[in-house]
Amino acid sequence: SLYARITGTGSALPPKRLTNEDMVSLLAARGLQTSDDWIVERTGIRARHFVEGDTQASDLALTASLRALQAAGRQPHEVDLIVVATSTPDMVFPSTATIVQRKLHEAAQAHGGQGPIGAPAFDLQAVCTGFIYALTVADALIRTGSARCALVVGAEVFSRILDFDDRTTCVLFGDGAGAVVLEATEHDGRGAGVLATDVHADGRHTGILCVPGTVAGGHVLGEPLLRMDGQAVFKLAVGVLEETARTTLAKAGLSEADIDWLIPHQANIRIMQSTARKLKLPMERVVVTVDQHGNTSAASIPLALDHAVRAGMVRPGQLLLLEGVGGGFTWGSALVRY
Ligand code: ACO
Repeated sequence: SLYARITGTGSALPPKRLTNEDMVSLLAARGLQTSDDWIVERTGIRARHFVEGDTQASDLALTASLRALQAAGRQPHEVDLIVVATSTPDMVFPSTATIVQRKLHEAAQAHGGQGPIGAPAFDLQAVCTGFIYALTVADALIRTGSARCALVVGAEVFSRILDFDDRTTCVLFGDGAGAVVLEATEHDGRGAGVLATDVHADGRHTGILCVPGTVAGGHVLGEPLLRMDGQAVFKLAVGVLEETARTTLAKAGLSEADIDWLIPHQANIRIMQSTARKLKLPMERVVVTVDQHGNTSAASIPLALDHAVRAGMVRPGQLLLLEGVGGGFTWGSALVRY
């Protein structure tokens, strides 16, 4: 039967890197106090990247996509589906995915080629669970034969929606993008591919993590900055992550002992440690990039995956459990034979 296989990964970080000490200075200038110790102890974060000037989510997405295509040995024109998970799109509309499509076309034209013009392209918004949702949707379209070579991207510029007068949230997030090329492959369930996925939402909790504003009548209506009840998010996150991990494993007929790498959404080291403990996985089998990237929302899982692939940690044939949780409240996981 048909499976969707990850054939290439890529990622992008904006060059400007801020350490916790840089955040201490940035906040001090606004009369707020924080410290490297507080941030590291509560979150595991040591540094994050922020875009400068008019760099948009689509710019980071383009770089990550070109790197993933190169790793897969594919040309932009071979892509027949583009899904971009983002909560910080370039514009209200059109979708960031269509902008990435145009930029891929322009990049290909510079080398006498063509972009994936005509392929369906759309954004998917599930905040920090966005990449898991996007992978789930692309996997389903490949399994039903609707697509054969999909580009699945998570791209965020959260620095644009951070409230730098709120020290409880602005130290947690960063900008970046990650992408995978997903291609159709045929086997009996024992080869490489997305083996199982599981996604959920509970809209009763929209208020605990949100950017409640919108645009109307030429103005911003409501708050255009991130608001979070950190403790409420923390409590919900740890329970649902264990549950979804067990669900995907059961769907694939596998157990936690089969997992080679847990690649979680990188929000907070304590959430990751607690999930690993519940799944009886040592931290040596958890891919951790939150220390260097902060929370990059929908970009964090593909960024961590690309890091682990390029560092030689993730190898062909290994079993990866990807999982995420975020605003909505949304959560989910994907079990992937790499
Ligand atoms: N620097 C110094 N002190 C701070 C800072 C800061 N940046 N931020 C808050 N504090 C202070 C608070 O004011 C408070 O002081 P007080 O006791 O005098 O009132 C104290 O630190 C403790 O604050 P809490 O909010 O209780 O800290 P907590 O231990 O809950 O940690 C945190 C906050 C890290 C946000 C935690 O709740 C958490 O990890 N939540 C999970 C949410 C998360 O990771 N979200 C990411 C996005 S969601 C997602 O991706 C799933």
